[in-house]
Amino acid sequence: MQLHISPSLRHVTVLQGKGVRELIQVKVGGKKVSYRMILYSLLFFTFLLRFVFVLSTVDSIDGETRCSSLGCLGKRIGPRLLGRRMDQSVPEVMYKVLEQPIDKDELQGRTDIPQTLEEFMAEVKDSGFDARSFALKLREMVSLMEERTRTAKIQEYLYRHVASSSIPKQLHCLALRLANEHSTNAAARLQLPSAELVPALVDNSYYHFVLASDNVLAAAVVATSIVHNSLRPHKFVIHIITDRKTYYPMQAWFSLHPLTPAIVEVKALHHFDWFSKGKVPVLEAMEKDQKVRSQFRGGSSAIIANNIWDIDLNGKVNGAVETCRGEDKYVMSKKLKNYLNFSHPLIAQHFNPEECAWAYGMNIFDLEAWRKTNISNTYHQWLEQNLKSDLSLWQLGTLPPGLIAFHGHVQAIDPFWHMLGLGYQENTSYEDAESAGVIHFNGRAKPWLDIAFPQLRPLWAKYVDFSDKFVKSCHIRAA
Ligand SMILES: *[C@@H]1O[C@H](CO)[C@@H](O)[C@H](O)[C@H]1NC(C)=O
Ligand SMILES: *[C@@H]1O[C@H](CO)[C@@H](O)[C@H](O)[C@H]1NC(C)=O
Ligand SMILES: *[C@@H]1O[C@H](CO)[C@@H](O)[C@H](O)[C@H]1NC(C)=O
Repeated sequence: MQLHISPSLRHVTVLQGKGVRELIQVKVGGKKVSYRMILYSLLFFTFLLRFVFVLSTVDSIDGETRCSSLGCLGKRIGPRLLGRRMDQSVPEVMYKVLEQPIDKDELQGRTDIPQTLEEFMAEVKDSGFDARSFALKLREMVSLMEERTRTAKIQEYLYRHVASSSIPKQLHCLALRLANEHSTNAAARLQLPSAELVPALVDNSYYHFVLASDNVLAAAVVATSIVHNSLRPHKFVIHIITDRKTYYPMQAWFSLHPLTPAIVEVKALHHFDWFSKGKVPVLEAMEKDQKVRSQFRGGSSAIIANNIWDIDLNGKVNGAVETCRGEDKYVMSKKLKNYLNFSHPLIAQHFNPEECAWAYGMNIFDLEAWRKTNISNTYHQWLEQNLKSDLSLWQLGTLPPGLIAFHGHVQAIDPFWHMLGLGYQENTSYEDAESAGVIHFNGRAKPWLDIAFPQLRPLWAKYVDFSDKFVKSCHIRAA
C-alpha cells in the first residue's frame, strides 16, 4: 500500500498495491491541518479500505460463532460501519468524534486504551461495532501514540512523505542557478578537464574515483572530501557521471570550483556511445567506460577520508562491506533473505537465505577481473526473470539484483572503509563516524535535509562552503 500526501497537506491518497485497483482520496479539510488529522485519515481509511477489500473478496472463512480473522471481523464490522451499500462514505459521527480535541489528562493513567493496531482490532471486535465507539477508540489510540512517540514514530512517518517532497527545493534551486550561470558565464563552461590533462583520464599511474550522482551539492561534498583528505591529490582523477538534466549545473559547479591539483572530469550518461543502446544502470556504465582502467570507487553521499589503495581483492570483482555483522543491529543485520523472496522457487534454488548481504555506495571494482566474468549478462537475465515473475523475486531497488549479479564475486572489506546507515538512525555517534575511513549517508535523513540527524550533519557540512554565492543564494544553511 502506498500513501501520498499532497504538498499542501490537503489530500491524502491511499493506493492499494498492484492487483487491487482501489484508490482513495481523503480531503483533509480546508482549515488548519495538523499532522494528527493526517494520521487519523490514514489510519482510518486504511481500516475502511481493508474492510471493504476483505468483504469483497472473502466470502466465508470462519463459522458464524467464532471470529478470529480479519476477514470475519471485516464481515461483521463492515456493514455496520459503512452501511449496506458498502460504498466508501464515512458516517458523519466519525468525523465529529475525530475532530474533537482530546485532553491529555483524559488519557492519563488509563489502561483500557489499545496500544497497538492489533489490540485496537481486538477491542473493536468486542465493542458494539458501532461507528461512534470505533471513532472514539481510534481517537484515544492515536492521541496516546502521539504522546508516546511525538519525536519519533509519527514525525518520522510523516516526514518521510512531506520532507522528501518539499525540502530539496534548495537543491533544485542550486541546479537552476548553476544552469543559468552556465548559459551566461563562459567561465562556467570550461572543458573538464582541460585539454592538456585529458591523457591523465586513462593513465593507470593515477588513482581513479567514479562518482555517480545527480545531486550537485552531494557530488561537490564527496569530491571535496576526497581531495582534502588525501596526501596525494595530484595523483587523483575524479570522474563524475551525471544525467542529462544535471550535466550543465555540474559542469558549471566544477568549472567555478576547481579541485586542483586533482583532476575532475564531468560527463553525462548520454555522452557514452553505448548509452544509446538503451537504459543502462550506473554500475554497467562504469564497467563499460573503457577509460577507467584501474580500480575505482563510486558513491553519491559518501564522504571519503582516507586512502584505500592497499586493499587486496583476492581476484574478486567487487570489494564491499558486509552488512550482517557489526554492533549496529539496525543497519548491520542484513542477509540475502532480507532482500530476496525465498518463497519463490527460483530464488530458493540459487541462493542461501542466511548468506551475508553487502552494501552499495562505496565499492572497489577491479575492472580487469570484471571483464573476465558474465556479471552484466547475469544481471540482465535476472532482471528479465523478475519481470516475467511479476516483480515478485525481490523488493524494488538496485541492491537486490546487484546482490544476485555479483554473487560469488564479492570480497568483504573492512567496515572501516564504509560506515553506512548515517541517514537511517541516530545511534551513530559523531566520534564513531569520525573514526571511519568512509561514511555514507544512506537512508532518508540526508544531511542536506531538515530531517538530518543534527549530531551527524557537521561531518558533511564541513565540506560545504556556506559563504559561496550559489549555496548562499539558495538558502542552503549549515543547520
Ligand atoms: C539505537 O537507538 C534506539 C533508540 O533510538 C535503541 O532502542 C537501540 O537500542 C539503539 N541500538 C543500538 C545498537 O545502540
Ligand atoms: C559466460 O557466458 C558464456 C555463454 O553463456 C559462457 O560460454 C562462458 O563460459 C561464461 N564465462 C564465464 C567466465 O562464466
Ligand atoms: C514471493 O514469491 C511467492 C511465490 O512465487 C509469491 O507468491 C509471493 O507473492 C512473493 N512475494 C512478494 C512479496 O512478491
